Amino acid sequence: MSDSLAATDPGTRLAALRPRLADHGQEHVLRFWDELDDTERGILLDELEALDLERLATMVAEVTGRTAAATAPALEPAALIELGDSAAHRQRDAEAREVGESLLRAGKVAAFLVAGGQGTRLGYDGPKGRFPVGPVTGRSLFAYHSHRVLAACRRYDAELPYFVMTSRANHDDTVAAFHEAGFFGLDPDLVTFLTQGMLPAVDRDGRLLLAERGRLALSPDGHGGCFTALERSGALDDMARRGIEQVFYFQVDNPLAQVFDPVFIGHHALAGAEMSTKVVPKSEPGEKVGVLGLIDGALGVIEYSDLDPALAAERDDEGRLRFRAGNIAIHMIALSFIRRLLSGGLSLPVHRADKQVPSVAPDGTTTAPSEPNAIKLEMFVFDALPLAARAVTQEVRREDEFAPVKNAGGPDSPATARDLLVGQARRWLAAAGLSVPDGPLEVGPLFALDQDEFVANLVRGDVGPIYDRA
Ligand code: UTP
Repeated sequence: MSDSLAATDPGTRLAALRPRLADHGQEHVLRFWDELDDTERGILLDELEALDLERLATMVAEVTGRTAAATAPALEPAALIELGDSAAHRQRDAEAREVGESLLRAGKVAAFLVAGGQGTRLGYDGPKGRFPVGPVTGRSLFAYHSHRVLAACRRYDAELPYFVMTSRANHDDTVAAFHEAGFFGLDPDLVTFLTQGMLPAVDRDGRLLLAERGRLALSPDGHGGCFTALERSGALDDMARRGIEQVFYFQVDNPLAQVFDPVFIGHHALAGAEMSTKVVPKSEPGEKVGVLGLIDGALGVIEYSDLDPALAAERDDEGRLRFRAGNIAIHMIALSFIRRLLSGGLSLPVHRADKQVPSVAPDGTTTAPSEPNAIKLEMFVFDALPLAARAVTQEVRREDEFAPVKNAGGPDSPATARDLLVGQARRWLAAAGLSVPDGPLEVGPLFALDQDEFVANLVRGDVGPIYDRA
């Protein structure tokens, strides 16, 4: 029998796996082996063979053994490209816009939407991108983003490619959402879906959990998994073939994300930055948002739980919070930086989330715990920031760029996001000198991407309806 045939035989595969599992104290995942049928055995073997048990052990040690540092790191605010309306600010941004627009016209920038998350807090049945957030039309998050990509392709007369990261659980439904919507008007050749990796959930002792008798409890490896996913899927090579030099990274839950914002692209390019970030001024010292700052001298995101309340409340001479650079998870990333990260064997730090994960008990019953019983492991995209040789942090207006849909109700929910979308439409109408009606309002990205375009298009007859239905 050839090696490859032998490798497909479940008995041979099991014999190779068993000692490795035993060495790592994980043999219990085979507890129900004798009860599984051939298909179930095949699935379990696939999942186990895909695991890097050594790396898992290191990750678990990292998150369970992490103790408070002997000395707290020195924190300083990040240098910002600050918001401002002065002539100098406007001149600075106009120069950046020119550079960004020329990169867009030359087709050198790709959009990269990460949409592989589980969206547990929202509790919506389906990929979060399908969520209907438009205040008038019920336009979905996917439609907002895709229409911005389409509008940019038209504005810059360029074929700007669009990469969408999914995860195993939502991939098919995400692809279906694009097909059902006719790719939102985009040329399907410009749209590429890629699937991120998975990491296993473990119990407090680092032991793998079973979601079913023949299936591991796995979850997406975090938005920081995007770099490896780009490489493994071939998307990086594809970008290079298409002449892409810069990647515009954004997340699915923000319908105000200004995809392909030329000013941001320009500031990033002018600085020769490897990875740049948009931030908004924190609304108050206690706002639960990560802040861009220098951590022992290196740029990174200071998590809100790590920022001493006294520091969080400090103000500068102008009365602004010193640590105000709230991360809104929009990045420019140079393709050469992604390649550099991966060539060095990228190993982003791993983060721990304590979650309730239904799992199969030794007696074969499945329990849905009421308290967190499991550790999920995730990587974060912003952990690449300290590895960047140069970085730009640009401050932008919250009301124009950040409407996160995270929770089912309360802050950062569909209701607050809709209010922000309506607020933007009202401001644009007022800027056009029109009376602002009561009730819900919405501007479709195909009508206008920004206020100037909105005002200009109102007087033209050929740009289509303001609400252009998704
Ligand atoms: P969140 O951190 O809000 O996580 O993701 P989530 O999974 O969507 O939601 P909860 O925490 O379960 O409620 C921020 C962005 O990162 C993407 C999400 O799709 C969203 O665009 N993301 C998150 C991934 O693409 N993959 C992941 O593994 C995690």
